[in-house]
Amino acid sequence: MHTLHLVQGVNLNRVGQREPGVYGGLSLESQIPLWETYLTRHWPNVELRVHQSNQEGTLVDIIQAIAADASSVGMLINPGAYTHTSIALRDAVAMVQKPVVEIHLSHTYAREAFRKESLLSGVCLGTIAGFGWLGYRLGLDAVLTQLPA
Ligand code: DQA
Repeated sequence: MHTLHLVQGVNLNRVGQREPGVYGGLSLESQIPLWETYLTRHWPNVELRVHQSNQEGTLVDIIQAIAADASSVGMLINPGAYTHTSIALRDAVAMVQKPVVEIHLSHTYAREAFRKESLLSGVCLGTIAGFGWLGYRLGLDAVLTQLPA
C-alpha cells in the first residue's frame, strides 16, 4: 500500500466557519470521505493520511517524517499563511524526494499583494489555487499521475 500525505497548515482547521465567503462553508472533515472514495475507485493501492497543525515547528516535524516515510508517494500541502512567510517550511518541503503539490482554496494571486508570493512554490511540482476543495481532488491526480506505471 502506498501513502499520499495531505498537510494542512495554520487556520485550516477552521475552514467551514472561517471567512466562508473566501474559503467556502464546507469543512475538511466533510471532504476526506469523498477523497477516500475517489482513491478507492481510481487509485486503490493508495491511502490518504491527513495532518493538520497551527504550529510552524510541528509542521516541520510532520514534513520531515513524511520525507522519511518509505511508503509515501507524494504530498499535498496547503500551508495557510505560512505560505507567505516560512523559509523553515520551504526547507522541510525541499527534503521530500517525492512530488509535492501546493494547494490553496482561494485564488491567492487575485487577492492582497502579500498573498501573491509563495516561499514554497519553488520546491513544489506545481500549485493549484482558487478552486476550493476541488483543488485537493485535482491535487491527488497531479501527484498520482507521477507514479511510475
Ligand atoms: C490559503 C491562502 C493563504 O493566503 C491564507 O493565509 C490561508 C488559506 C488558501 O487556502 O487559500 O490561510 O492558503
